[in-house]
Order: sequence, then structure tokens, then C-alpha cells
Amino acid sequence: MRKSLLIAEDDEVNLSLLRKVFQRPDLLVHEARTGTEALQIIDQQPVDVVLTDLKMPGVDGLAVLAHARKARPGAEVILMTGHATVESAVSAMKMGAFHYITKPFDADEVVHLVGRVLELTSVRKENASLRVLARGRSGLENIIGVSEAAKEVLSLVRKVADTDSTVLITGESGTGKELVARAIHYLSPRADRMLVPVNCSAIPGELLESEMFGHVKGAFTGAHATRAGKFEAAHGGTIFLDEIGEMSPSLQAKLLRVLQEKWVTPVGGNKPIPVDVRVITATNKDLEEEVSEGRFRNDLYFRLNVIPIRIPPLRERREDIPALIAHFIERYGRPKGRFLEGIRPQALDILYRYPWPGNVRELENLVERVVVLKGSGWIEPPDLPEKIRRAEGFLKTAMPVLGESGLDIRSATEDFENALIRQALHLSGGNKNRAAALLGLKRTTLVEMLKRKNLDAGAAGPPG
Ligand SMILES: Nc1ncnc2c1ncn2[C@@H]1O[C@H](COP(=O)(O)OP(=O)(O)OP(=O)(O)O)[C@@H](O)[C@H]1O
Ligand SMILES: [Mg+2]
Repeated sequence: MRKSLLIAEDDEVNLSLLRKVFQRPDLLVHEARTGTEALQIIDQQPVDVVLTDLKMPGVDGLAVLAHARKARPGAEVILMTGHATVESAVSAMKMGAFHYITKPFDADEVVHLVGRVLELTSVRKENASLRVLARGRSGLENIIGVSEAAKEVLSLVRKVADTDSTVLITGESGTGKELVARAIHYLSPRADRMLVPVNCSAIPGELLESEMFGHVKGAFTGAHATRAGKFEAAHGGTIFLDEIGEMSPSLQAKLLRVLQEKWVTPVGGNKPIPVDVRVITATNKDLEEEVSEGRFRNDLYFRLNVIPIRIPPLRERREDIPALIAHFIERYGRPKGRFLEGIRPQALDILYRYPWPGNVRELENLVERVVVLKGSGWIEPPDLPEKIRRAEGFLKTAMPVLGESGLDIRSATEDFENALIRQALHLSGGNKNRAAALLGLKRTTLVEMLKRKNLDAGAAGPPG
């Protein structure tokens, strides 16, 4: 598809020069002779690049820039100024200009800059679908949490969002690290720019450098064209470096330099490109341990760990389970028009005891599965995966430790007995014959015990 360039320039000479330079088949060029005209074109045409003069009749270049940022967040603006005051250049960059050039300009330089923006828009297209997806489910309202631990994470997210500080998110797999990273970006002043995710473990080491910093044509075999990196794509926005613990030591050194100096050098290139990017990283590794084992650079760790956010595993915040279930019932049920009523206490009980090695993602998959397979009614114990119902040992009661204060051996024994009976009922899906057999009891004895102990056999599922 043809890319589209808007040239806003009141000087006829410059305008015709630029028109000639950009007369090429891959480019659709719009022209504006006043700022006001430029605003109209931005509203009406899907422009990719805006090349605008600073001083123009009507509104000036900065207003064009501000409008483009709002109306066409995917577009980039290059300012041209005849009066290169440092202040206007600085404020232009602050307002999110891609670059500014001083007149009289060198046509090659303008072509080069526009070329870079066009590469960038291609890189961004790859991310576009991801971004739309993220927008819909980006804010805090999609992070469910009622436990103290989760609320602490949420309040941290709110606090760090409007800063530019580097954030290091740690937590086991499936705890919601990416969700938190997205929330930070979309709550931040950078929300109208890109959030560019890079998974450092999914990309082989040699390629990761070019993925992050770009490369020039001919930098290595297969580098047929110059390509912008993810840092450039994230200019003005946020880069999310996921699984940062997997990054090779040599790349760690390069990343550290980028963070310190705020420019990137494409692979094979020698011209550094300034970037304004907020960095959020995540890992499920213990980075401190990685540092002490010599696998992760100490200096980079400190640079990344400015604001640490630790997301606790689900088993440390079981109070979140019911709210998460309700959330996922809604999320997966709504598009399909299938609504589960909720979860039975007996089933919830099982989930409460399960250790959740896959954390929230595992719970999400479970609910999605029940929505698909069952679609209505309540989540009951038999709806839960075998693996969870039969998880060895999750119902084991811990052996009480006898301390100074002593304990009541009768009630301790009773608790132990009750726990075993519950396990048997769970394992048998509530079938009393099978439960009794598992416990080496006659059915009648079990029924008697249940009555005496006031235990509900149904508590483990449908009556057997
Ligand atoms: N608090 C939460 N509220 C709602 N959904 C959540 C929550 N935490 C996690 N999820 C969901 O669980 C899934 C896993 O979350 P996410 O991908 O953010 O985890 P992660 O920590 O990045 O995992 P990994 O280490 O495997 O990459 C996602 O679908 C996410 O939407
Ligand atoms: Mg992740």
C-alpha cells in the first residue's frame, strides 16, 4: 500500500523542491500552504508522515504537530524551521516530533528522515493488531484483585504510571506481568504512542540486537534493506522487554549503554539515533540470583530495577480466586452468549487448595474451558480438570506441631479424619461407595460418620 506524506509549507520555492524530491510511486503526497489547511488534511487523510514548516500563516507548525499527535498517533512529524531556536526545537521534541531540521535544508537529509519514518511505520504495522487488542483490555479495570497483595500492585501501577522511571516486574509465569506492563503504559502520558513488546527469549541472540536497535542494509547476510528497530518504533512511547533474564551478556552491555545515553546504533551502522523511550522489563527469574551467579550484569540490574513490582503467585493471594473466576466467566461468556451462574462452594474449595503452578493463566484457561464445554449452570467439582481434582497431596492436612501451648488431641485427630474423608469424597466425585472403599470402610460406616460429623457428602460433588 502507498504511504502518505503531508507537506505543509508556505514558501513556494521550498514546496516545489520538496514536491519534486518526493515524487515517487510509493508515496501519495498532500500539500498544505497554511497551518489551517494542514489540520484539515490531517483530519481527512490517513497520513503517515507530516513534514511541516514551523512558521506559517494561520496556525503554526507546533499546532500542526500537536494536532497530528492527537488525530494520527501512528504518524510522525518532522518540523522544518528557518529560525532554529533551541527552545522551539526542544519544545518540538518534547511534544513528540520525530525530528526537526533547519533551513536551508539538504534534500538528502529530508529524504533520509522521511525514509526512516516510513520504515518505522512498517515496523509499527506489525504491532498494530497487538495494540488494538491491548487498548481494549489495557486499563486497571482489567486487572482483577481484591487481596491486599494485589491491591498493593495496583496502587504501585498507578503511582509509577505518570513517571518515566524504569520498572522491573517480577513474578512467576502467568501472574500478570504483561498485563501490568500494559496498564502502566496506557495510564501514562505516553499512552497515545506505541507500546512495543519484545520477547527476549523468543528471539535468537544474534537477531535480538537487530530486532531492538535495527540494522543497516548489508549489515549481515539477509539484511537486504535498512530496518528500524523496536526502540525506534517505541520513540515517544514505551518498550516492554519481556524475559529480560534471557538476554545475552553482550547484549546486556549494549542495552545498558542505550539506557544511559538514550540513543541506539543500528547493527552495522555508525550513526547513533536519539530515542525517547520508557523502559519496562519483566522476568520470572530471580534477577538478583542471576547477578550473584554472574549471569546478569550488576550495573544493568540496578539500572532496570529503579521501581520493582513483584506480583505474588496466585497461591499467596487465594482471596483473588473468586473475583478472577467471575471476571473470566464474563470475559469468555459474553462473546459466546453463554453465561455460567458461578461456582459451587465445593468446587471453589478445591480451587482454593490447589497450588496453581500456572497462576492466573491456568485459572483463566480452566474457566474458558468450562464456559466452552458447559456454557450454563454452575461450575461443579466434576467440571474441574482431573489434574486439579486429583492433585496429589493438595488436600493433605499438615501434621500439627506440638508446641508449648499444647493441643487437643481429640480435635486434632478429628480434623485429620475429616480431611481424609473429604479427600475420599473429592476423589470419588462424591460417590459414597467408592469413597468408603478408598478409606477401607463399609458404606454404612461412612454414612454414619458423615452424619455424626455433620459433613455434607454433596460437598464434594453430586451425590453418588
Ligand atoms: N489480576 C489479573 N486480572 C485479570 N486477568 C489476569 C490477571 N493476572 C493475569 N491475568 C491474565 O492471565 C493471563 C496471563 O497474564 P500475563 O500474560 O500478563 O502473565 P505473565 O506474568 O506475563 O506470564 P509469563 O511469565 O508466562 O509471560 C493473561 O491472559 C492475563 O490477562
Ligand atoms: Mg509474559
